[in-house]
Amino acid sequence: MKRLEQLYEGKAKIIYATEDPDRVIQYFKDDASAFNGVKKGTIVDKGVINNHVSTTIFKYLEEKGVRTHLVKELNDREMLVKRLEIIPVEVVLRNVVAGSLAKRMGLPEGEKLKAPILEFYYKDDDLGDPMINEYHIKEFGLATAEEIEILRQQGLLINELLFEFFKQRNIRLVDIKLEFGRHKREVLLGDEISPDGCRLWHWETGEKMDKDRFRFNLGQVEEKYQEVYHLICNKA
Ligand code: TMP
Repeated sequence: MKRLEQLYEGKAKIIYATEDPDRVIQYFKDDASAFNGVKKGTIVDKGVINNHVSTTIFKYLEEKGVRTHLVKELNDREMLVKRLEIIPVEVVLRNVVAGSLAKRMGLPEGEKLKAPILEFYYKDDDLGDPMINEYHIKEFGLATAEEIEILRQQGLLINELLFEFFKQRNIRLVDIKLEFGRHKREVLLGDEISPDGCRLWHWETGEKMDKDRFRFNLGQVEEKYQEVYHLICNKA
């Protein structure tokens, strides 16, 4: 499938049209950003790793009955996907206290949650992706009541499946951000699933293996992305 004109450029990916109006190409860049674009940089080969890791995880989820936008991986940096009308709600699932939850609740990072916490954020860079709830989603027409239910059910299911998936690879899934979109009256999991949008800690050492290494200048950013890649793609 040949890539045609660029439709959209985000912080980490570019979306291209194809000859098929129902299919687009996701091109994964090495560009990294954090704190809503305030911190910018490059993580060498991140695009290749995130493409391979996302493809492996989407395939795994499809095998488990989760509907995703994946059609197929085209090459190192390109994934052919179903064209989605993105629902502007980010779904975050948390298994362990970290990041903004630690800040909001005044808790140290690392406390295991009794049950997963599900949160919604309004996907709007100008506003800094504020946290919202289902009343906001309904009132402002971001998704229907039926779609909110799908986001909730699929979010919890995907988190449960991936917690086990990562555990088998010696990684603790601390939290994860998911995005969904509409395709022919169906809601599909979209975007990517990679160390950019999850917190992944080594199961035994607790070492961070995700974008927090870039956010907080922890060093060994490339090395840890590579380690996640090997743990996931060499085992699968
Ligand atoms: P947070 O603790 O900063 O709210 O982030 C929770 C998880 O969601 C973490 O794995 C990072 C991811 N995330 C994104 O990838 N993009 C976002 O815009 C937000 C708010 C979170």
